Amino acid sequence: MKAASLFRARFGGEPDGVWLAPGRANLMGEHTDYNDGFVLPFALGQGVTAAAAGQTGRRLTLCSRQEPGDVVEVGLDGLAPGLVTGWAAYPAGVAWALEAAGHRVPGACLAIDSDLPAGAGLSSSAALECATALALTSLGGLDVPRAELVTIARRAENEFAGVPTGIMDQSASLLCRAGHALLLDCRSLETSQVPFDPAVAGAGLLLINTRARHELADGEYGRRRAECEEAARRLGIPSLRDLTNLADTDSLTDPVLRRRARHVFSDNQRVLEVVALLRDPGRPDTYREIGRLLTQAHVSLRDDFEVSWPEADAAVEAALAGGAAGARMIGGGFGGSVLALVPAASDQGSGPVRDAVTGAFARRGWTAPEFLDAIPADSARQVSG
Ligand code: GLA
Repeated sequence: MKAASLFRARFGGEPDGVWLAPGRANLMGEHTDYNDGFVLPFALGQGVTAAAAGQTGRRLTLCSRQEPGDVVEVGLDGLAPGLVTGWAAYPAGVAWALEAAGHRVPGACLAIDSDLPAGAGLSSSAALECATALALTSLGGLDVPRAELVTIARRAENEFAGVPTGIMDQSASLLCRAGHALLLDCRSLETSQVPFDPAVAGAGLLLINTRARHELADGEYGRRRAECEEAARRLGIPSLRDLTNLADTDSLTDPVLRRRARHVFSDNQRVLEVVALLRDPGRPDTYREIGRLLTQAHVSLRDDFEVSWPEADAAVEAALAGGAAGARMIGGGFGGSVLALVPAASDQGSGPVRDAVTGAFARRGWTAPEFLDAIPADSARQVSG
């Protein structure tokens, strides 16, 4: 366990425990979370690990294998947004949000490691927040329900780190279950576990890291949020979740706002359609239909929401040509990963899809993509100690 060995090397002694929080992929529902809509993420086998132990004094001492600079010291008294920048803002923000919610955070040393590719749009920052949240609450003997930890981790990201995301990623990291996707109603925050085991149906999930780095803080994400809010305002509804049929978007005279609203409406519908398909496992065409919806969602994200990027479009096209049942960009956009639904290993496996995508990137002179098999995994948990 690399986080534990980093802990020993940097701090000496043994950690009191090691906590793992997974990254996520999203099966359906992109840019719907901050519109009060539906999302359907699942947790990945890869994630962020925190090896941690309590220390005397009101401070956190942080180090990360991925950030080989100095150890970062964060005082817990007087902690406020803006005081900590860079990667340490995420764990510090969790401490701040826990205290703001009335939980007294213990002094602690944390050594962080991650096996999520950075900048791949697989929620490494939410995983860092959630691993920290579990470590600090366990060390402090704080009994905080998972649903509350979700909102605490999100506050860390939104208010402390200043990244205006929705609630999907923290929910996925803290609430998903192996073999399931998590249906989350982002308005009521009601959740339900939807059985999702593609291998049973002779299918597999392949993540394609396009190596175009994804950053949420660069303004485009915030602009999309603002456009959605403006569209809802002009439609006279509280949020785009309240659209009840596509024709209602026609009353938006601004073509950009009309496209944004159309995406949110159609992606919410697609979440519900995928859930209905997964809950009806008797159908012979479940995964072919899900594949079709994935590709349809990509077209919507590319043309209506305009958050795709050239490497994602090329990866989707090549994956389909290589035999994928469907594929789409996932996450915020402008870089990151594509999720493809591929034949299961017992059949042809993902080989032909990988070859097609690798070839398409090579022909364009792009950095070779990275592939990860995605298997719906469990949410954050203590893994030792
Ligand atoms: C990022 C955000 C999420 C969500 C997605 C788009 O991953 O962190 O809250 O908005 O983009 O669906």
